Amino acid sequence: MERSVRFMPGKELPDELRAAMERVKAYGVTYPEGYHRILVGKYSEEGVRYPHILMIAGNPRIHRHFFYPHVLSRAGRLLDYGCGTGDNVRQLIRDGFPRTHIIAFDINWESISLGLDLYRDGEEMQDLLVVSETFPFGPGEFNTIYSASVIHVIGDEQEFLDYLAGAYSVLRPGGILFGSTLGLAREGSCIPIHGGLREL
Ligand SMILES: C[S@@+](CC[C@H](N)C(=O)[O-])C[C@H]1O[C@@H](n2cnc3c(N)ncnc32)[C@H](O)[C@@H]1O
Repeated sequence: MERSVRFMPGKELPDELRAAMERVKAYGVTYPEGYHRILVGKYSEEGVRYPHILMIAGNPRIHRHFFYPHVLSRAGRLLDYGCGTGDNVRQLIRDGFPRTHIIAFDINWESISLGLDLYRDGEEMQDLLVVSETFPFGPGEFNTIYSASVIHVIGDEQEFLDYLAGAYSVLRPGGILFGSTLGLAREGSCIPIHGGLREL
Protein backbone atom coordinates (compact mmCIF):
# COMPACT_ATOMS: atom_id res chain seq x y z
CA MET A 1 0.00 0.00 0.00
CA GLU A 2 1.18 3.51 -0.79
CA ARG A 3 2.49 5.59 2.05
CA SER A 4 0.56 8.75 2.60
CA VAL A 5 0.97 12.17 4.13
CA ARG A 6 -2.32 13.32 2.69
CA PHE A 7 -4.74 14.69 5.23
CA MET A 8 -8.24 15.86 4.65
CA PRO A 9 -8.53 19.46 3.44
CA GLY A 10 -7.54 21.95 6.12
CA LYS A 11 -5.40 19.41 8.01
CA GLU A 12 -1.60 19.37 7.84
CA LEU A 13 1.02 17.01 9.25
CA PRO A 14 2.78 19.56 11.55
CA ASP A 15 -0.49 20.68 13.13
CA GLU A 16 -1.75 17.14 13.56
CA LEU A 17 1.54 16.03 15.14
CA ARG A 18 1.43 19.03 17.49
CA ALA A 19 -2.17 18.20 18.47
CA ALA A 20 -1.33 14.52 19.04
CA MET A 21 1.65 15.50 21.24
CA GLU A 22 -0.61 17.76 23.29
CA ARG A 23 -3.11 14.93 23.82
CA VAL A 24 -0.35 12.51 24.84
CA LYS A 25 1.15 15.07 27.24
CA ALA A 26 -2.06 14.73 29.24
CA TYR A 27 -0.80 11.24 30.22
CA GLY A 28 2.39 12.70 31.67
CA VAL A 29 4.64 12.30 28.64
CA THR A 30 7.25 15.03 28.21
CA TYR A 31 9.18 16.02 25.09
CA PRO A 32 12.66 17.46 24.72
CA GLU A 33 13.21 20.77 22.94
CA GLY A 34 12.84 20.42 19.18
CA TYR A 35 11.03 17.08 19.33
CA HIS A 36 8.09 18.30 17.24
CA ARG A 37 10.48 19.41 14.48
CA ILE A 38 12.19 16.01 14.55
CA LEU A 39 8.88 14.18 14.19
CA VAL A 40 7.72 16.49 11.40
CA GLY A 41 10.96 15.75 9.53
CA LYS A 42 10.65 12.02 10.09
CA TYR A 43 7.01 11.68 9.06
CA SER A 44 7.28 14.14 6.16
CA GLU A 45 9.87 11.78 4.75
CA GLU A 46 8.35 8.44 5.75
CA GLY A 47 4.68 9.32 5.38
CA VAL A 48 1.80 8.42 7.63
CA ARG A 49 -0.01 5.38 6.34
CA TYR A 50 -3.29 6.17 8.07
CA PRO A 51 -3.54 9.95 8.61
CA HIS A 52 -6.69 9.37 10.62
CA ILE A 53 -4.67 7.38 13.17
CA LEU A 54 -2.49 10.41 13.83
CA MET A 55 -5.59 12.54 14.17
CA ILE A 56 -6.95 10.27 16.93
CA ALA A 57 -3.60 9.35 18.55
CA GLY A 58 -3.65 10.09 22.26
CA ASN A 59 -7.41 9.67 22.30
CA PRO A 60 -8.09 6.02 23.24
CA ARG A 61 -11.61 4.74 22.81
CA ILE A 62 -11.59 1.28 24.40
CA HIS A 63 -12.76 2.60 27.77
CA ARG A 64 -15.84 4.13 26.16
CA HIS A 65 -17.00 0.71 24.87
CA PHE A 66 -20.02 -0.62 26.77
CA PHE A 67 -18.20 -3.94 27.33
CA TYR A 68 -15.13 -2.33 28.91
CA PRO A 69 -16.13 -2.70 32.60
CA HIS A 70 -16.47 -6.46 32.03
CA VAL A 71 -13.08 -6.60 30.31
CA LEU A 72 -11.27 -5.21 33.32
CA SER A 73 -12.55 -8.04 35.47
CA ARG A 74 -12.05 -10.80 32.92
CA ALA A 75 -9.34 -13.34 33.64
CA GLY A 76 -6.82 -14.45 31.05
CA ARG A 77 -4.99 -12.94 28.15
CA LEU A 78 -6.18 -10.13 25.90
CA LEU A 79 -5.20 -9.48 22.29
CA ASP A 80 -5.50 -6.02 20.71
CA TYR A 81 -5.94 -7.19 17.12
CA GLY A 82 -4.74 -4.39 14.79
CA CYS A 83 -3.49 -2.22 17.63
CA GLY A 84 -2.22 0.73 15.56
CA THR A 85 -0.55 3.28 17.82
CA GLY A 86 -1.33 1.20 20.92
CA ASP A 87 -3.42 3.90 22.60
CA ASN A 88 -5.94 1.33 23.75
CA VAL A 89 -3.51 -1.08 25.38
CA ARG A 90 -1.94 1.85 27.23
CA GLN A 91 -5.43 2.70 28.48
CA LEU A 92 -5.94 -0.88 29.67
CA ILE A 93 -2.65 -0.73 31.57
CA ARG A 94 -3.56 2.63 33.15
CA ASP A 95 -6.84 1.08 34.26
CA GLY A 96 -5.08 -1.82 35.96
CA PHE A 97 -5.43 -4.67 33.47
CA PRO A 98 -2.32 -6.82 34.02
CA ARG A 99 0.20 -5.80 31.38
CA THR A 100 1.67 -9.33 31.30
CA HIS A 101 -1.70 -10.53 29.98
CA ILE A 102 -1.79 -8.11 27.04
CA ILE A 103 -0.53 -8.57 23.50
CA ALA A 104 -0.77 -5.71 21.00
CA PHE A 105 -0.57 -7.06 17.47
CA ASP A 106 -0.42 -5.41 14.07
CA ILE A 107 0.59 -6.48 10.59
CA ASN A 108 3.13 -3.66 10.30
CA TRP A 109 5.20 -1.35 12.45
CA GLU A 110 4.06 1.93 11.00
CA SER A 111 1.34 2.99 13.40
CA ILE A 112 3.00 1.21 16.33
CA SER A 113 6.16 3.25 15.69
CA LEU A 114 4.13 6.45 15.57
CA GLY A 115 2.69 5.52 18.98
CA LEU A 116 6.15 4.81 20.36
CA ASP A 117 7.40 8.17 19.04
CA LEU A 118 4.49 9.98 20.65
CA TYR A 119 4.54 8.16 24.02
CA ARG A 120 8.34 7.66 24.10
CA ASP A 121 7.86 4.33 25.89
CA GLY A 122 9.55 1.86 23.57
CA GLU A 123 11.39 0.05 26.35
CA GLU A 124 8.27 -0.43 28.47
CA MET A 125 6.13 -1.54 25.55
CA GLN A 126 8.47 -3.85 23.67
CA ASP A 127 7.47 -7.04 25.52
CA LEU A 128 3.82 -6.73 24.59
CA LEU A 129 4.14 -5.68 20.94
CA VAL A 130 3.96 -8.28 18.17
CA VAL A 131 4.26 -7.44 14.47
CA SER A 132 3.86 -10.05 11.78
CA GLU A 133 2.43 -10.12 8.26
CA THR A 134 0.88 -13.47 9.05
CA PHE A 135 -1.26 -14.17 12.10
CA PRO A 136 1.22 -15.61 14.61
CA PHE A 137 -0.95 -16.99 17.43
CA GLY A 138 -2.11 -20.51 18.23
CA PRO A 139 -5.43 -22.04 19.24
CA GLY A 140 -6.92 -20.89 22.52
CA GLU A 141 -4.22 -18.33 23.43
CA PHE A 142 -6.64 -15.56 24.37
CA ASN A 143 -9.75 -15.06 26.47
CA THR A 144 -10.55 -11.65 25.05
CA ILE A 145 -9.88 -9.88 21.76
CA TYR A 146 -10.30 -6.17 21.22
CA SER A 147 -10.26 -4.98 17.62
CA ALA A 148 -11.12 -1.42 16.67
CA SER A 149 -11.20 0.36 13.33
CA VAL A 150 -9.61 -2.56 11.55
CA ILE A 151 -12.43 -4.00 9.44
CA HIS A 152 -12.92 -0.81 7.45
CA VAL A 153 -9.27 -0.76 6.37
CA ILE A 154 -9.43 -4.31 5.02
CA GLY A 155 -10.27 -4.03 1.34
CA ASP A 156 -9.96 -7.64 0.30
CA GLU A 157 -12.59 -10.28 1.07
CA GLN A 158 -10.11 -13.10 1.62
CA GLU A 159 -8.10 -10.92 4.00
CA PHE A 160 -11.31 -10.16 5.89
CA LEU A 161 -12.13 -13.88 6.16
CA ASP A 162 -8.57 -14.61 7.33
CA TYR A 163 -8.85 -11.81 9.90
CA LEU A 164 -12.07 -13.32 11.32
CA ALA A 165 -10.74 -16.88 11.19
CA GLY A 166 -7.64 -15.75 13.08
CA ALA A 167 -9.73 -14.20 15.82
CA TYR A 168 -11.94 -17.28 16.10
CA SER A 169 -9.01 -19.68 16.21
CA VAL A 170 -7.19 -18.03 19.10
CA LEU A 171 -10.14 -17.54 21.43
CA ARG A 172 -10.66 -20.03 24.21
CA PRO A 173 -14.16 -21.47 24.74
CA GLY A 174 -16.22 -18.64 26.20
CA GLY A 175 -13.88 -16.09 24.67
CA ILE A 176 -15.13 -12.68 23.56
CA LEU A 177 -14.27 -10.53 20.56
CA PHE A 178 -15.36 -6.94 21.00
CA GLY A 179 -14.54 -3.64 19.36
CA SER A 180 -15.82 -1.22 16.81
CA THR A 181 -15.40 -0.17 13.23
CA LEU A 182 -16.43 2.67 10.99
CA GLY A 183 -19.47 2.43 8.76
CA LEU A 184 -21.82 4.48 6.71
CA ALA A 185 -25.41 5.15 7.64
CA ARG A 186 -26.83 4.32 4.21
CA GLU A 187 -26.78 0.64 3.28
CA GLY A 188 -24.94 -0.01 0.01
CA SER A 189 -23.44 3.45 -0.08
CA CYS A 190 -19.85 2.34 -0.19
CA ILE A 191 -17.65 -0.32 -1.73
CA PRO A 192 -14.32 -1.64 -0.49
CA ILE A 193 -11.14 -0.46 -2.17
CA HIS A 194 -7.56 -1.27 -1.28
CA GLY A 195 -6.93 0.19 2.14
CA GLY A 196 -10.37 1.53 2.86
CA LEU A 197 -13.80 2.40 1.59
CA ARG A 198 -15.02 4.86 -0.93
CA GLU A 199 -18.45 6.28 -1.50
CA LEU A 200 -20.35 5.37 -4.64
C1 LIG B 1 -7.33 2.50 11.48
S1 LIG B 1 -6.08 1.61 12.34
C2 LIG B 1 -6.81 1.35 13.95
C3 LIG B 1 -5.78 1.13 15.02
C4 LIG B 1 -6.32 0.93 16.43
N1 LIG B 1 -7.01 -0.32 16.56
C5 LIG B 1 -7.18 2.07 16.88
O1 LIG B 1 -8.36 1.85 17.14
O2 LIG B 1 -6.67 3.19 16.98
C6 LIG B 1 -6.15 0.02 11.61
C7 LIG B 1 -4.98 -0.88 11.98
O3 LIG B 1 -5.31 -2.21 11.60
C8 LIG B 1 -4.14 -2.81 11.12
N2 LIG B 1 -4.56 -3.96 10.29
C9 LIG B 1 -5.10 -3.94 9.06
N3 LIG B 1 -5.38 -5.20 8.66
C10 LIG B 1 -5.01 -6.03 9.66
C11 LIG B 1 -5.03 -7.45 9.85
N4 LIG B 1 -5.48 -8.26 8.90
N5 LIG B 1 -4.57 -7.95 11.01
C12 LIG B 1 -4.09 -7.12 11.98
N6 LIG B 1 -4.04 -5.77 11.86
C13 LIG B 1 -4.49 -5.23 10.72
C14 LIG B 1 -3.43 -1.70 10.37
O4 LIG B 1 -2.06 -1.97 10.16
C15 LIG B 1 -3.68 -0.51 11.28
O5 LIG B 1 -2.67 -0.32 12.23
